[in-house]
Amino acid sequence: MKIAVGSDHGGFFYKEKIKEYLKSKKYEVVDKGTYSPEPVDYPYFGEEVAKSVASGEVNFGIIICGTGIGISIAANKVPGVRAALCTNEFMARMARSHNDANVLALGQRVIGLDHALTVIDVFLETEFEGGRHERRVRLIHDIEKGKI
Ligand code: RB5
Repeated sequence: MKIAVGSDHGGFFYKEKIKEYLKSKKYEVVDKGTYSPEPVDYPYFGEEVAKSVASGEVNFGIIICGTGIGISIAANKVPGVRAALCTNEFMARMARSHNDANVLALGQRVIGLDHALTVIDVFLETEFEGGRHERRVRLIHDIEKGKI
């Protein structure tokens, strides 16, 4: 499974740790930046990861900024992307099983590193339930297409 990671400076430290963690678990990792702790603008990195998910280059994306808020808002502007900001395992499980989220957003200033890694595990290991949730996810993309 291939995963794109991206962050701004506020999430850079976690991005580096998450990269190592994913590689240790044999995931293929694509790093979309930022590549140093210098201040940068989070929308660029949310967009880069989101585009790689939407194009099918990777299966999932993980994006990190200080809170996870700005970068998830940016990623969600890319059609086909469902980025979910999760602060615990329950949210990660629901984001996958009900919302079929394809990007996980985390806040480096919000959640401890070990907890973030557990949230990542849950997100990557939970399947979408489909069924009634399929229709709801489709409706989200109908909004994108201006159908509703
Ligand atoms: C950067 O200081 C910070 O605003 C950013 O990382 C993020 O928290 C934005 O939502």
